[in-house]
Amino acid sequence: MQVVRTPDELSKAVLNRKGPVFLVPTMGYLHKGHASLIRMAAKDRDENKPKGTVVMSLFVNPTQFNDPQDLDKYPRDEEHDKRIAQEAGCDVIFAPPLEVVYPSGLQTTRIHVPKVSERWEGEHRPGHFDGVATIVAKLFHMVLPDYAYFGEKDWQQCRVIAKMVDDLNFPVYLKFGETVREDDGLAMSSRNALLRPEVRLKAPALHRAISQAAKAFSEGRPARICESDAAQAMLDAGFTKVDYVAIVDGMTLDPIDSPVPGVRVLAAAHIGGVRLIDNVAV
Ligand code: PAJ
Repeated sequence: MQVVRTPDELSKAVLNRKGPVFLVPTMGYLHKGHASLIRMAAKDRDENKPKGTVVMSLFVNPTQFNDPQDLDKYPRDEEHDKRIAQEAGCDVIFAPPLEVVYPSGLQTTRIHVPKVSERWEGEHRPGHFDGVATIVAKLFHMVLPDYAYFGEKDWQQCRVIAKMVDDLNFPVYLKFGETVREDDGLAMSSRNALLRPEVRLKAPALHRAISQAAKAFSEGRPARICESDAAQAMLDAGFTKVDYVAIVDGMTLDPIDSPVPGVRVLAAAHIGGVRLIDNVAV
């Protein structure tokens, strides 16, 4: 496995190998959720003739952090990331420094994806999805992938990127991987490393609460009541603030009242100074 820092180095590494490019964008501090996306990409590569190249990008993107403290605290460990990426089947890590990605500073052209980016995470993290859409568009231009892989853990992010790709005719095929969880249900996240041990024990209450909401909703309980029950269950379990619990159409992300196919329960809440998000299917 190679590690490259510039688009030039990357295109040389990719040209030496024939076939499509399979891109897994990450901000590093890899866990089993990231590894499952790399494995998905590696499987697609191995089934392709000629095989092609799995590229994982590793870049902590400042323009998507609305909270500077969150950016400062974001865990980093490139040696650990290299090990996990290689084990999962990555061929090339593209880990550009800040000045390669934003050579003229952070005041760049931004991509705003209307509607799907504006609710939920969009309301609570102003500018976040503009930063995500912009960096993903930049990565697509730097890496020129044929396929790109994203995790359902960040359901709204998947919808935002899918709309951007449709709206702007990016010639890339998107694939989405299921959320990988710890044994107690907590969705794997780089931010879990920031949870103190006593807080870590309480964190699975988020997944429990939204799973219970999904079940109650499918049994006919009104959506808004399922949402408020779930929020209360999280507060009772030790979460300090619930940003939202929302029962939505999984594609439009609009709140819904009656069970239809493709419903998701989305939530974000704070515990021990860490903000966690999760979602489940109904
Ligand atoms: P990051 O949080 O590092 O996540 C990289 C990819 O891994 C995303 O597609 C995310 O949805 C996926 N992922 C994270 N946790 C997961 C889990 N438990 N199970 C399955 N997939 C999981 O998301 C980002 O980085 C950034 O916003 C990025 C897209 C790289 C743009 O900067």
